[in-house]
Amino acid sequence: MNLLAIESSCDETSAAVLQMEDSGKEAAPLRKILSNKIASQAETHALYGGVVPEIASRAHTEAISSLTYEALAEASLGIRDIKAVCVTASPGLIGALLVGVNFAKALAYANGLPLVPVNHIRGHIAASYLAYPELRPPFLALVASGGHTSLVRVETYTSLETIGQTRDDAIGEAFDKAARVMGIPYPGGAALDRLALEGRTDAVRFPSAAIADGTLDFSFSGVKTAVINHIHKLTQAGEAYEVRDIAASLTDCVVRSVLKKLGAALELTGLRAFTLTGGVAANSHLRRAVEAFCAERGVRCYIPPVSLCGDNAAMIGAQGYYEFLAGVRGDSSLDASATERTFPLRTKA
Ligand code: KG4
Ligand code: ZN
Repeated sequence: MNLLAIESSCDETSAAVLQMEDSGKEAAPLRKILSNKIASQAETHALYGGVVPEIASRAHTEAISSLTYEALAEASLGIRDIKAVCVTASPGLIGALLVGVNFAKALAYANGLPLVPVNHIRGHIAASYLAYPELRPPFLALVASGGHTSLVRVETYTSLETIGQTRDDAIGEAFDKAARVMGIPYPGGAALDRLALEGRTDAVRFPSAAIADGTLDFSFSGVKTAVINHIHKLTQAGEAYEVRDIAASLTDCVVRSVLKKLGAALELTGLRAFTLTGGVAANSHLRRAVEAFCAERGVRCYIPPVSLCGDNAAMIGAQGYYEFLAGVRGDSSLDASATERTFPLRTKA
């Protein structure tokens, strides 16, 4: 079946068309991206050093309609060929989410189509289904992005449990804020990735983000503050600092923290497959380290291509398909939620 998907939870407006078919029996179900249009607002927000919610909402409003029709045109399909409309409804910036939710609601209602609300974090995990058609639950996932850091036990496509998460800042925020104090424009994660290639990982010791309390939780605010303080101290003393070394040391600290909790989560759950997703999964150092870590333990490792790591609507459609099969539906009362929320199965009258 063909699905249309909409994503507008943060600073990317995206519309995608997917062809999905999964009877549960195939070795590799059909999971095909027919189009995945993304309009990034990063340049606009870079002027302010971070996402400005009101500007994001306005930019989504301007882009969403034409982007949706471009996605249909690129897929060579009309709205009549679509069987369901999927939309990110939580979590995210409330004003940004509302643009996508209201647009999707209107489109579904006007065309008599089912509406499927999708959780953004589940969507990030589903990016791996598109990249690896053979991937099926159960597996362990780490969603690492600008807004989230969650270790998730994926039991079935629609039964997921968060077993560890950040207690404060997200992993991407640590990268973005560190980049910002070093004068690198928002979002600085990708630039730090490149700089870290040339720096010394042992130049500065930053505190681990893996909380040592027996849980699977992280704390990235300490690392973030340590980087900021380190740079401020050097600047006040009039000393020069090497951006590459700080990038490499920070990356090394983050990678070690992730591997620590990944090891513990694999041990706890006994799962033999792992996926790393979300914008920070684009980090070349983290990708390599996680792949090697899993290979040493005989754990199958799935990391989507960089093009599917950041926010995009194709991943929302991939999760939306499985939510649709499970009977999840939204109606005209569907609301967006800034905080994490899953959606109840529709109880048939
Ligand atoms: O998933 P995403 O597009 O949006 C959220 O849901 O938050 O993630 C964006 C985050 C930003 O913090 C950005 O700096 C980070 O992903 N990012 C990276 C890299 N590419 C993007 N962080 C580290 N290394 C990268 N190569
Ligand atoms: Zn995201």
